[in-house]
Amino acid sequence: MKKVMTAMLAGTVLTAAAQAESLVVYFSKTGEQYAVGTITEGNTAKIAKIIAEQTGSDVFEIVPEKPYPEGYRATTDAAKTELSQKARPSFKGKIENFDQYDTIYLGYPNWWGDMPMVVYTFLETYSFKGKTIRPFCTHEGSGASGTKQKIAAVCKGAIVQDVLAVRGSVAQNDSAAPKKPCATG
Ligand SMILES: Cc1cc2nc3c(=O)[nH]c(=O)nc-3n(C[C@H](O)[C@H](O)[C@H](O)COP(=O)(O)O)c2cc1C
Repeated sequence: MKKVMTAMLAGTVLTAAAQAESLVVYFSKTGEQYAVGTITEGNTAKIAKIIAEQTGSDVFEIVPEKPYPEGYRATTDAAKTELSQKARPSFKGKIENFDQYDTIYLGYPNWWGDMPMVVYTFLETYSFKGKTIRPFCTHEGSGASGTKQKIAAVCKGAIVQDVLAVRGSVAQNDSAAPKKPCATG
């Protein structure tokens, strides 16, 4: 039942308040994951949920049209191919009222020292001019891998703040995770 609900909500903005000024946008993957086994809620999703609750933000999950494999190794292979091809995988849904948001909390896992390519697709779909982007990422040792600069290069005219980088295993298992950024972030 939970899966059906998730599928129905994919690509829609979950509204927190009548006119929220901030939006949490994130990509995160369930299934077999490094260091945490098989998970039903992704590591980055856990952080996204906490930030949304604490800030009263609306939420948009970036859900790729073509799902990634369930297995960890197969996912790393698929991601490596996408990275080398500079792929721009499509994602489900769209945000009608993107102009309404001043602040975007942008969440993603570190994939091969970069953001997943579907996050680039998202960033290239909307104008971030005049907006503040507050990135957060989960990882298993690499920290943010210079993704602040990569976001700034794509999102012209945006103010990009430092990345909150949290270990995926901490994010998965500790509800105080956003207060525990990793030193390498
Ligand atoms: C395709 C892929 C590539 C990854 N590459 C890295 C990496 O280069 N450095 C790192 O620290 N962690 C890497 N990881 C680990 C993830 O960043 C980490 O498990 C993250 O918390 C996953 O978040 P999610 O559950 O929200 O998808 C990789 C994981 C996957 C699936």
